[in-house]
Amino acid sequence: MSPTVTANADLDTAVAEARGAYVAARPKSKALHEEAAKVLPGGNTRTVLFYEPFPTVMERGAGARLWDVEGHEYLDLLGEFTAGIYGHSDPTIRAAIDGALDNGVNLASHGANEPKLARLLLERFPSLERVRFTNSGTEANLMALALATAFTGRRQVMVFAGGYHGGVLTFGGGTGGKVNVPHDIVLAPYNDAETSVRMIREAGDKLAAVLVEPMLGSGGCIPGEAAFLQALRATTRETGALLILDEVMTSRLGPGGRQAALGVVPDLTTLGKYIGGGMSVGAFGGRADIMDLFDPRRPDALPHAGTFNNNVLTMAAGVAGLSKVFTPEVSLALNARGDRLRERLNALGEARGAAFQATGLGSLLTLHPMRGPIRTPADAAKADSRLRDLLFFELMARGYYLARRGMIALSLPVTDAELDGLVEAVGDILDTHRTLFTA
Ligand SMILES: Cc1ncc(COP(=O)(O)O)c(C=O)c1O
Repeated sequence: MSPTVTANADLDTAVAEARGAYVAARPKSKALHEEAAKVLPGGNTRTVLFYEPFPTVMERGAGARLWDVEGHEYLDLLGEFTAGIYGHSDPTIRAAIDGALDNGVNLASHGANEPKLARLLLERFPSLERVRFTNSGTEANLMALALATAFTGRRQVMVFAGGYHGGVLTFGGGTGGKVNVPHDIVLAPYNDAETSVRMIREAGDKLAAVLVEPMLGSGGCIPGEAAFLQALRATTRETGALLILDEVMTSRLGPGGRQAALGVVPDLTTLGKYIGGGMSVGAFGGRADIMDLFDPRRPDALPHAGTFNNNVLTMAAGVAGLSKVFTPEVSLALNARGDRLRERLNALGEARGAAFQATGLGSLLTLHPMRGPIRTPADAAKADSRLRDLLFFELMARGYYLARRGMIALSLPVTDAELDGLVEAVGDILDTHRTLFTA
């Protein structure tokens, strides 16, 4: 593929041209989408993957590369929304999964790997004294909230506008809330310590938990400020509400997640994504006195079910990944690479005076076609969505696969040379559409 869009003084025309080039290059994806739409609503079974006019259908991946059904090759910058940290064919992970398959799946028993994976997590994340596994990050948050209400005997849960904790725990506005689980929700403003502290105190002994992402991931890679997260920690201690850090995405941002980096140790932590070596996974854990409510030896034990909670493929891949591949040193190196990339991308925007910046931390970034500080989802919403579309189609045309909303999650096999190429491509896009990005 090569970029076919020319400089254009009008944004709508430029987007239409870029979209036209996207469609013209993907007849097979289009046909597959039309067939899929006959049996799946909108041809889709995972909302985040859908975009207009139709999503690109990928056929295979290897390392940090993807090939779509037309045979176009891409650098995979999306990294399965952070779950794909190991890339598509890490030999160590592959060997672990092969080994598990050799011993048979669905054993319906305790296995030797789940305590190993639990131990690896406990060694990393300061808040974890006990952990339990689930099938997804969503389920981990559902269980953590259920546990918090059971432990405290309280009903209310505080979350933040723009937060995302799973398909039934979404607080970004729009129709998302219609499928949310019916918790008694108190919605507070992200990165606003003063208001949040006041709201926690007002809720007092009604508030069971505060659930927060240390960085809004789906909400645009907007880091939680240290003072904000520290204030949540201190105030929940005062009122007896549990602080739950959703580190489903952010745990990869350092050897001990954001909690270690910030010194904010929550009562409970939720995890997911890469911790199962790329297989379906979630986990929740924290203080032993809270988590031990699940100890089945207790007469008052809470149940925690799930056919696939300890499925052998996830457990084996997770152990191999954390013990042999994504070691603390590798985590530091990957996140340093992401920091360098963000700095270079931001320098491009600044040098051109363009409406373009990259937010995030370490290996997680979101490209925003706008100037000015981004501290809240409302700030990010000021970007012109047409420029977002133009950036997306133009990067796809140059062989860079990322989220439609501009999110990038670096995986381990991505090289510096490939990131040089990305920086060049972004510079080229900003130059080609200079008038539109500097308007
Ligand atoms: C912060 C956060 N929490 C929870 C989830 C839900 O995880 P899953 O998609 O595995 O259910 C996500 C997924 O993107 C997430 O980003």
